[in-house]
Amino acid sequence: MKFFVDTAEIDAIAELNDLGMVDGVTTNPSLILKSGRDILEVTKEICDLVDGPVSAEVVATQADAMIAEGRKLAEIAPNIAVKLPLTWDGLKACKLLTGEGRMVNVTLCFSANQALIAAKAGATFISPFIGRLDDINIDGMDLIADIRAVYDNYGYETQILAASIRSVNHVLESARIGADVMTAPPDVIKKLAAHPLTDKGLEQFLSDWAKTGQTIL
Ligand code: E4P
Repeated sequence: MKFFVDTAEIDAIAELNDLGMVDGVTTNPSLILKSGRDILEVTKEICDLVDGPVSAEVVATQADAMIAEGRKLAEIAPNIAVKLPLTWDGLKACKLLTGEGRMVNVTLCFSANQALIAAKAGATFISPFIGRLDDINIDGMDLIADIRAVYDNYGYETQILAASIRSVNHVLESARIGADVMTAPPDVIKKLAAHPLTDKGLEQFLSDWAKTGQTIL
């Protein structure tokens, strides 16, 4: 499973990237706001740091303007994936931009039908939002499973990018179902390493080791 990190914070991306945990990055207008940075500048820095796809989102809502913004964002670096909302205009822009050989991440997906139509428009990635469905008491994991089944039925190559991940269980369930990629905030990725029995076991080992009076170095 590929790991994308869902942030525009350079230090957090760099720390995870040094550990080989970053196969790509996703940003959105809210994350750019949170970073306090200029979108073009911060996205360029991220692209310089990370080899994999870096999603940068358009903010226009009409297809022509989305295409113009998408082309400008794609000029930042070859590894930009233009992020487009799952609207009819977004699908038009998706078809055109992927036809130009650009990567496109279709975002704000909340149904398998939306994912189906994004695949038909040539999307490189589809981003179903798990957490935001959970927020309204709909099981986001069912959506990931539905999209996996639909794409596998017909051999669509659009990659399922499980997004709006809020917990380590979302990561595990997405991996079980077979999402191609998951994108999560840095703190969720770090929590994947945590287990209370690891902490408890280490505490016991260190306590026993101290009693031996030995040193290794
Ligand atoms: C990623 O592409 C999405 O923008 C992100 O995962 C949304 O997450 P949120 O629902 O926690 O804001």
